[in-house]
Amino acid sequence: MSTKGDVRSYLRPHLADVEPYKGVDTPEALAARYGFSLEEVSKLDANENPYGPSPRVYEALGGLRNLHRYPDPPARELRRRIARYVGVGEDRVVVGAGADELLELVVRLFLGPGDTAVDCPPTFSMYSAFARQNGARVVEVERGPSWELDVEGVLGAVRSGARVVFLCSPNNPTGNVPPDGELRPILETGVPVVLDEAYYEFSGVTRAGWLDAYPNLIVLRTFSKLAGLAGLRIGYMLAHPDVVAGALKIKQPYNVTVASQAAGIASLEDLPRLQENVRRLVAERDRMAGLLAEHGLLVPYPSSANFVLCEVRGADAREVQCELASRGVFVRHFSKPRLEGCLRVSAGRPEDTDRLMRALHEISPVASEVAR
Ligand SMILES: Cc1ncc(COP(=O)(O)O)c(C=O)c1O
Repeated sequence: MSTKGDVRSYLRPHLADVEPYKGVDTPEALAARYGFSLEEVSKLDANENPYGPSPRVYEALGGLRNLHRYPDPPARELRRRIARYVGVGEDRVVVGAGADELLELVVRLFLGPGDTAVDCPPTFSMYSAFARQNGARVVEVERGPSWELDVEGVLGAVRSGARVVFLCSPNNPTGNVPPDGELRPILETGVPVVLDEAYYEFSGVTRAGWLDAYPNLIVLRTFSKLAGLAGLRIGYMLAHPDVVAGALKIKQPYNVTVASQAAGIASLEDLPRLQENVRRLVAERDRMAGLLAEHGLLVPYPSSANFVLCEVRGADAREVQCELASRGVFVRHFSKPRLEGCLRVSAGRPEDTDRLMRALHEISPVASEVAR
């Protein structure tokens, strides 16, 4: 018998209540599970960019000869290119391993055990997840019926001592962009406000131009959606130089790999192509939303992102998700109070929309059975 005791008793106690994040499966895993070839699968569950990266990324990666060396810690060249793309000084940019890493950096910068963060659900689940993992408390200020922010609720939480507010524009999964009138009063409080613009390019609305006016504004962006590089993990933070200096101090030194830095640079050299793909996805999102509204089983909310949240009418959302999956169409369901009856569908290629609509026409009779 071991005398060393139970190692679990050494785990930090607050971690017992932390929910594990359930990420999405790869297309290969989904295809294998449901017995499809990769070509028969429409993966519309993770807001990825189906057009993938610029061909220049593959050229750049194929030419790499320095993989035995550590990457440049501040990712200087990529940082310079991002600063030029955004139109800010380099001292306002931190590059990270995806927006996710930067979210965690923000948590580590501003939140100690017992401190409070404000989350506005339904929204991206990593805000509360990272805060809780780091021992912070999360105050949830629910959105209103059109997914608008409860500004008074957020201001109240700030008055009660919250030290960070997490906001998302366009919001995942609801797709709406908060108007200036919701954001400004929150920013005026001076408390650090994370404005996650992961889907900015699909909305064309950014508040990066407010960085001078609001030293407490922290904008997050990613190459996962615009540049089709979810697999290489590249994101960036735009913030006041003092926040940037703090983040550079505590980030892992080699957080962005040699391959990721090269891929980010190559992407920004091919911006017109990436922007053309964004235009195609926005057009496809709108075509899909129109077809869904006409069909009537998945009723779309308006969206400014590369996905559409839909209310499932007259059927169980989980059942519809399973029926779609069995036809090679993968969409996202969230087991959260106000999203139980909804599915989130990413904009894909025209053939993905067509496959989705074919599947919906097939399952509509099944769905009405479920509803009965
Ligand atoms: C709102 C939002 N923020 C951040 C991320 C994470 O982005 P990244 O892939 O750069 O970590 C996602 C990913 O889906 C997202 O939806």
